[in-house]
Amino acid sequence: MLFKSLCLAVLTALAAATYPIELVYQYPNTEYQNIENVAVRSNGQLLLTLVTGARLVQLNPANPIPEDIVTVVGPQSIIGIAEVEHDVFVVSAGNFSFGPQVIGGVAGVPGTGAVYSIDLNETPAKVDLITEIPESGALNGVAKLPGCDSVLIADSGLGAVWKVNYKTGDYKTALSAPEFAPVPEFFQLGINGIRIPEKGVLLWTNSAQATYGVVYIDEYGSAAGGVQVVATAPNGTNFDDFAVKEGAAYIATSPNAVYKVPYDGSVQLIAGGGDDMTLAGPTSAAFSKDGCTLYVTTGGAGGPMPISGQVFAIDVCAYGKKEKRWTA
Ligand SMILES: *[C@@H]1O[C@H](CO)[C@@H](O)[C@H](O)[C@H]1NC(C)=O
Ligand SMILES: *[C@@H]1O[C@H](CO)[C@@H](O)[C@H](O)[C@H]1NC(C)=O
Repeated sequence: MLFKSLCLAVLTALAAATYPIELVYQYPNTEYQNIENVAVRSNGQLLLTLVTGARLVQLNPANPIPEDIVTVVGPQSIIGIAEVEHDVFVVSAGNFSFGPQVIGGVAGVPGTGAVYSIDLNETPAKVDLITEIPESGALNGVAKLPGCDSVLIADSGLGAVWKVNYKTGDYKTALSAPEFAPVPEFFQLGINGIRIPEKGVLLWTNSAQATYGVVYIDEYGSAAGGVQVVATAPNGTNFDDFAVKEGAAYIATSPNAVYKVPYDGSVQLIAGGGDDMTLAGPTSAAFSKDGCTLYVTTGGAGGPMPISGQVFAIDVCAYGKKEKRWTA
């Protein structure tokens, strides 16, 4: 997601053992870039989606020189990303309005949502429009629906989840709930990140409501039960996108933290927090293929003294233990 204002943070003193963290890359502040999301290719390279310019960027964590591999022509930003077949990624795209005149600092431009596939098996990468979604509010997180040619896409503006067939372009609303809604008078981006860690389990965050939860789904992506809130972000913070390992969500949290939320719903600080300025607006997280490195992206901050987006690596195996998983 696009975080709002660093100033909104109520800086709570949280005594916690944080995990080892290291900066992999930061764009120069002189050329402000807002990193929105991250996926890890099977070859270990990171794919970053940029709000600033609808670009897909590849970054090798071992030799971090960003390489623009795709610029999607049409939308202002690309947002969510999910791998659907080997090296084929589906991304959500659209326009946003930013600034002091916008309640909460950022909002989607309704009707600008579109979905693209990016095939990295070809050189240069092949970009195809899957479909536009003129009814969209603000497309955001993308997750592959297991067992069919569809993805689910969170709509932060509408408070709903779209199902999009990436072979045919057919789309329809799969889920809609008050728990997914934005809070229009406060922050206009509701449901943000979505992940399907196991068949039948959809985990989600809502940035405006500062919540993280679960909804069980059927094979078509429709609700198979009620939407449940599992945890609430600490006061003054907002959950954004997240990664899942062994039943625990590792949630990029605005303005400056990463929280781990296991199955029991406890909210554990693992990086940043308090008045720590290391992480400038965390936006998303993804695990390395061995599950031991959590990559966290940030959007930085625009304005006259910009802070550019960053990529961090957090060592999660330093404190590894078996966790209870989500199962349907
Ligand atoms: C969306 O953004 C693109 C790229 O900046 C721009 O060309 C287009 O006019 C915008 N559309 C709307 C409806 O704002
Ligand atoms: C949470 O933050 C708001 C303002 O940011 C404040 O009014 C409220 O008292 C805080 N609540 C708690 C429990 O700290």
